[in-house]
Amino acid sequence: MGELSRVVLVTGGGSGIGRGVAESFAAGGDRVVVADISAGAAEAAAAELGAEWVALDISDAAAVEAAVSQVHDRIGAVDVLVNNAGLTAGGGPLVELDIAAFDTCFRVNLRGTFLMTRAVGARMAERGEGGAIVNITSIGARQPTPGLGHYEASKAAVEALTRSAAIELAPRGIRVNAVAPGPVRTPMTAGLTADAAARAAWEQRIPLARIAEVADVVPAVVFLASPQARHITGASLQVDGGQLLG
Ligand SMILES: NC(=O)c1ccc[n+]([C@@H]2O[C@H](COP(=O)([O-])OP(=O)(O)OC[C@H]3O[C@@H](n4cnc5c(N)ncnc54)[C@H](O)[C@@H]3O)[C@@H](O)[C@H]2O)c1
Repeated sequence: MGELSRVVLVTGGGSGIGRGVAESFAAGGDRVVVADISAGAAEAAAAELGAEWVALDISDAAAVEAAVSQVHDRIGAVDVLVNNAGLTAGGGPLVELDIAAFDTCFRVNLRGTFLMTRAVGARMAERGEGGAIVNITSIGARQPTPGLGHYEASKAAVEALTRSAAIELAPRGIRVNAVAPGPVRTPMTAGLTADAAARAAWEQRIPLARIAEVADVVPAVVFLASPQARHITGASLQVDGGQLLG
């Protein structure tokens, strides 16, 4: 797997962290596929970045299989998969949480990551040239914030999936790691970052005293996918300004 001109598939690449990740790989000379449930966002990001795009819902097994086989036929075998697409689907204390929010969150974050890992990982293993998978989780997998229990449980499950995939795929030279951000300024957190009091409350929990920008998170993803990380697998790298230290 060469450092340049890899085929890199980024789910949720139409917005926020995924878009930043796609931009960085494209700038480094890789062939990037922006995969998003929003065809409009995927197409717009791809046009700006000089990337390819595909529309898919990662929680839909048939759509995943169709999109991944289309990418293989049209663009080439995937060398790097970034499982970034995710959502909270709402929030609230567990004893009051809308059950549909719980189900949607697990369907997209856990089932979606599983389906993508299954479809792309099987092809990587069959091809026999290694590969890298990076899952975007959250420090919430390890440190609770009231009102986000369903989301944090889904991300903890993705961290477990990361370790299982890492041990199963290691004999094939495929590395699987996670990047666990703290709060990041993206469309997902627009409500939080626009509210001065909410923003201050979050910043108080962060030793480095600020909410991350997308550009703070992207290099960790690019590194874990790179040959420089060739002996790292099954890891979860927090990018949180030290929030887990508290
Ligand atoms: N923003 C944060 O503070 C933060 C912190 C920790 C972890 N994360 C994680 O980072 C990832 C990206 O978050 P973001 O803040 O950039 O969010 P975002 O809402 O800006 O972008 C998410 C993208 O995923 C796409 N998407 C949603 N559901 C999809 C599906 N079923 N199939 C395909 N695409 C789908 C959306 O259309 C969107 O383009 C998520 O997994 C999120 O949980 C975010």
